[in-house]
Amino acid sequence: MNSDMYKINACIFDLDGVVVDTAKYHYLAWKRLAKELGFDFTIEANERLKGISRLDSLNILLEIGGIVLSADEKEKLAEKKNQWYLEYINKMQPDEILPGVKNFIKELKSKGIRIGLGSASKNAKLILNQLEIIDLFEVIADGTRVLKAKPDPEIFLLAAKDLNVDPHQCIVFEDAEAGIEAANRGGFTSVGVGDPKILCKAKAVIPNFIGMTLDKMTGLIG
Ligand code: BG6
Ligand code: MG
Repeated sequence: MNSDMYKINACIFDLDGVVVDTAKYHYLAWKRLAKELGFDFTIEANERLKGISRLDSLNILLEIGGIVLSADEKEKLAEKKNQWYLEYINKMQPDEILPGVKNFIKELKSKGIRIGLGSASKNAKLILNQLEIIDLFEVIADGTRVLKAKPDPEIFLLAAKDLNVDPHQCIVFEDAEAGIEAANRGGFTSVGVGDPKILCKAKAVIPNFIGMTLDKMTGLIG
């Protein structure tokens, strides 16, 4: 394969679990909802909700609890969960940015690599503002802009289109299985952030961004 195929023009970052650990806040809010509905929601089950949309998450939660509801009732519960989630998010501080990721993005930018966000979250801009890093991202593709949730590639394709880059010259960083599948289906180079057992379909997996550089990354995917 021609080495130009791997020339990186842009990097697209997922938000939750890649830039910041919001999974713990999603978990607390879903657990509270499950409790109110009369069943327990475990941290293991929370893994299934990573990367997927709010409504898809609620559907899994209700399936776990054996509860069937109308679309209207679901809408109300999703809104209730989001209000609880926002209580946590509104208290977040810039020191909750995951270690190494900010420096890595700055290095990429200094080398002319374009940076986008590709997140299923409808709260993405709020979170980036809260963390004071919204200006790091040239393009923000979030849950307010797409109809199809991950594992559909729509969100990453939208970010690539906004960045004016070809998916083949673009890395997607993801912590969720659904996100890796979305990136692969879209023709991106997928890099998993987290557990290699869960993210086995990624082109490469890193535990976190501590000490990560463009050279190291190129070596991993090359
Ligand atoms: C993803 C999270 O980034 O965003 C999911 O990994 C979450 O857990 C999804 O369900 C939607 O988030 P929000 O903020 O729109 O409820
Ligand atoms: Mg994620």
